[in-house]
Amino acid sequence: MTPPNLAMNAVSTVRDLRAQVAEWKAEGLRVALVPTMGALHEGHLALVQQVMDVADRVVVSIFVNPAQFAAGEDFDSYPRTLEDDAAKLASTGPHLIYAPTARDMYPDGFVTEVRLGGPAEGLESEARPHFFHGVALVVSKLFNQVRPDVAVFGEKDYQQLMVIRRLVIDLDLDVEILAGETAREADGLARSSRNAYLNAEDRRRAGALNVILKDFGADLRSGMPASEAEASAVARARDAFDGVDYVTVRHAETLAKLGDGPVSDPARVLAAVKVGTTRLIDNIAV
Ligand code: PAJ
Repeated sequence: MTPPNLAMNAVSTVRDLRAQVAEWKAEGLRVALVPTMGALHEGHLALVQQVMDVADRVVVSIFVNPAQFAAGEDFDSYPRTLEDDAAKLASTGPHLIYAPTARDMYPDGFVTEVRLGGPAEGLESEARPHFFHGVALVVSKLFNQVRPDVAVFGEKDYQQLMVIRRLVIDLDLDVEILAGETAREADGLARSSRNAYLNAEDRRRAGALNVILKDFGADLRSGMPASEAEASAVARARDAFDGVDYVTVRHAETLAKLGDGPVSDPARVLAAVKVGTTRLIDNIAV
């Protein structure tokens, strides 16, 4: 079933998707994939622009993936705006939207899981233990369905990016992974489909997250011991927000914990906090 009235090329079945991609490949065109859950914002569109420089055709997948939501999370309320998304993409180039149904992605009898370790451990997995297993499952399927030459993931979801890089190495997946810079609002808040949940007051408070991370990074660069810099950032986050899952510094690639002294390895500061009932995540390079 093709979604109705979309302003651009859209397919919803693997069969139609493969037919289109096969045509492109027969012409020798290079194909990129931008996996998304829709409710597209400037961060997503910047990823599309980025891969247009390195590929001839771009497939944007739009699929709110049930496997990465736990019971009680926002799967049902997650914004679904397919027609708006298609209109936004139509202005950017000759692309294909791939919007499969959950039934096609996970038909009756589906049982296979992807088991992860390393960068998938800790951080997001503490609060959302199911999350990266669901992400890795759907991304593996998308890679096999689209067979892209290149795919891009945002640094906004930094741990996700590291999990995907590891997955691609470990499973010999033949796709080049690019990282897209985090697109931000004027006050530094990372753009996110979930920002739509924030009321005006919470939206104003949310801007503090990026400020706290920047100061945390500056403290580490100035040689402050990691434990001291982290304690200060955590205390500020507790003051500013309604809950703090983590505010911490990790190795930039493995996401392993670092020692207690001044930071010398390539490092990344990462945070997850609650503003009202909305969970925000952000990170920056040190
Ligand atoms: P979603 O949250 O829709 O994000 C799709 C892609 O856009 C991800 O690679 C994400 O990191 C990137 N992105 C989101 N906000 C961004 C921002 N402000 N700046 C730059 N990039 C940004 O992440 C997912 O969907 C899903 O987990 C998915 C990978 C599609 C698997 O279901």
